[in-house]
Amino acid sequence: MTPMGIFGILFLFVALYWGTDPFKYSAISEFPDFEAYKVDMPPWELVPTVRDNDNLLQKSEIKFLNQVQGPESIAFDPLGRGPYTGVADGRVVFWDGENWNDFAHTSSNRSELCNPKPSPASYLPNEHICGRPLGLRFDKKTGDLYIADAYFGLLKVGPEGGLATSLVTEAGRVPLRFTNDLDIDDEGNIYFTDSSSKYQRRNFMQLIFSCENGGRLIKYNPHTKETNVLMTNLQFPNGVSLSKDGSFLVVCEGCSGRLLKYWLKGKKAGTSEVFAILPGFPDNIRTNKDGEFWVAIHSRRSIGKPHGQAVKYSPDGKLLRVLEDSEGKVVKAVSESDERDGKLWLGSVLMPYIAVYDLD
Ligand SMILES: *[C@@H]1O[C@H](CO)[C@@H](O)[C@H](O)[C@H]1NC(C)=O
Repeated sequence: MTPMGIFGILFLFVALYWGTDPFKYSAISEFPDFEAYKVDMPPWELVPTVRDNDNLLQKSEIKFLNQVQGPESIAFDPLGRGPYTGVADGRVVFWDGENWNDFAHTSSNRSELCNPKPSPASYLPNEHICGRPLGLRFDKKTGDLYIADAYFGLLKVGPEGGLATSLVTEAGRVPLRFTNDLDIDDEGNIYFTDSSSKYQRRNFMQLIFSCENGGRLIKYNPHTKETNVLMTNLQFPNGVSLSKDGSFLVVCEGCSGRLLKYWLKGKKAGTSEVFAILPGFPDNIRTNKDGEFWVAIHSRRSIGKPHGQAVKYSPDGKLLRVLEDSEGKVVKAVSESDERDGKLWLGSVLMPYIAVYDLD
């Protein structure tokens, strides 16, 4: 991969984007103050080049085809039921073992605009009305489901489901623009990301081109209802996950394609450092029972067919495993990779299915 490679991808994206303008938005017309920010790209020699030559993700099972549209995040409740997932029309749905059921929603203003559509992307123009649940996590003690909704901020819904309650819509007097993912510690504190201070999810193309640096990592204390901004100046922060011992958080930074570590405990508490350089641009991250981190790679750094990739890192940031479907034959995209009982549950914000890969 050469610098020309990057230019190639950018050129391709720009050409595709300007050529089709799929959502009838144009970066300049809607955002007259559009500005591109410099991204501190890691040197090429630090970018991992390991590939999964066996294309192991092709062995995944495709489940629930056309029953779930754009299931980004996957969660199981404290009784082990599920999966639950957030879909493109703004609902959180629940698999009871036989059927998908409505569980919760984030918008109090749902209408026929949120009715079924042919593809996950066709919901984009109405997402700000219907809601778009991205990150999902259950509080294991209370059974409450916490939801990071791209448009409605941080919300919570009880085990009975229904309309979720809004908890946070701004932090440090700056409104949340693009809430993305969350995790919960043992005391019930919520850590969540706001991907941009300027662009909403339906304008993600502008965010990708601008790499605006208003992204934040935020803490919400449900007991005091206080909100604290932990990290600022992030360029498209996305997934977030606590370490197994709760001493640090790992945050995915989309524009630079790296993982950042934010210390919560110990001498370095309150400081951050680079945890790892990723082979591509990340979406969500989830910690497994051994304290390792699975990162969903949304796209690679070089040109190629869209394809699914998930990579695993040790608790100290070493790349342990790469799984992919480099031809995009079975798993075309991965937004989240959750390890559970020897299986990886692979969500995707773009696809109409959940893929399950058997690790054993
Ligand atoms: C509610 O939805 C309608 C479209 O169905 C929209 O025109 C209106 O602005 C929305 N109201 C609020 C408060 O979001």
